[in-house]
Amino acid sequence: MIYLDNAASTPVHQKVIDEMIPYFKEQYGNPSSIHKFGRTANTAIQTARKRIADLIGADSKEILLTSGGTESNNTAIHGIALQNKGRHIITSSIEHDAILEPCRHLEKEGYQITYLPVDKDGLVDVDYLKSQISKDTCLITIMFANNEVGTIQPIKEIAEIAHRNKIVFHTDAVQAVGKVPINVNDLGIDLLSISSHKINGPKGVGALYIRKGVNISPLILGGGQENGLRSGTENVTSIAGFGMACKLAKENMDQNIKHFKNLTSWLVTRILSEIPMTTLNGHHQKRIPNNTHFTFLGVNGEDLIIKLDENKIAASTGSACSVRTQKASHVLGAMGFSHEQITGSLRLTVGITNTEEEIDQTVEVLKKVVQELRAVSPYKNKYNF
Ligand SMILES: Cc1ncc(COP(=O)(O)O)c(C=O)c1O
Repeated sequence: MIYLDNAASTPVHQKVIDEMIPYFKEQYGNPSSIHKFGRTANTAIQTARKRIADLIGADSKEILLTSGGTESNNTAIHGIALQNKGRHIITSSIEHDAILEPCRHLEKEGYQITYLPVDKDGLVDVDYLKSQISKDTCLITIMFANNEVGTIQPIKEIAEIAHRNKIVFHTDAVQAVGKVPINVNDLGIDLLSISSHKINGPKGVGALYIRKGVNISPLILGGGQENGLRSGTENVTSIAGFGMACKLAKENMDQNIKHFKNLTSWLVTRILSEIPMTTLNGHHQKRIPNNTHFTFLGVNGEDLIIKLDENKIAASTGSACSVRTQKASHVLGAMGFSHEQITGSLRLTVGITNTEEEIDQTVEVLKKVVQELRAVSPYKNKYNF
């Protein structure tokens, strides 16, 4: 199989697996225990915390360990809302459901939520953002990079606007971490969500960066782990693996970015020049280097994915999470795409294990299957396929 769905999840790096094994086997202590087993487990957590912090230029004390991007986002949004500093939140219309759903939940509780529009490339309207700020705004949460089309938002500019107005700024950086260098201090980020399984770590673990001095309320109460912000015995094995994934992402960042750019630029060049009536979606420059997202006119994206799967290529129409709900992409809808453009879309996201040969094989298969699908397309006459 050729795996081109690295935005959905990534293969776990061998060094990450090696780091995790001892905590499955001999080092099974509870990190809260005083004895040697406990202390060893606790040390593993602190080592991982430091590695996670180093990847984004933070301090270890600013890292809250969670079960992944979804929990980090929920903790940021509800954790700020529970502080009762205001009842208005600004977000964008193209966020992941792990942002939109907690916002909708708060809306039902009487909060006012502003969903910023985006342009055809998926960029938020910063002037409109400024105009929406009120005395009641307690949080601005805007994703770093979009999970479907890969567009990167003007994070530093938005953080500055938030701070000028004394508003906390959160970013869902699940798709950006490891793909672009991020320093939370340079960018002025207050809260930032990370997920391990998007950077060759295990699933079900992640972190929320919380700038020193920013207060959030806990959502999970109990034994007081994680400074009382998230109770429950820590997932030591996965945390150790996540830490190693962050260490590798930092050490190999330049090389990985170069690799991603090489593969995606070759993929884009070949697809756009060899398959007619095809467009690249998302901002052409301001995008994460591992993402490509296309519309093949007259083709149904789901049919395309099935055909690709039959040809041993794993791809996606966009967000893996929305597939379950069978919703048309709210991201492409917000970017002004027609129903036909939305249904004809395909996301190909590369990772550290992909090769140029795989890209060439993928293009050859795509050329064949797009032609097959267009031959039986209801739009056949409209476009003269
Ligand atoms: C932008 C974004 N935010 C949040 C998530 C959820 O992360 P997790 O799977 O770790 O809960 C994802 C996962 O696809 C994502 O792409």
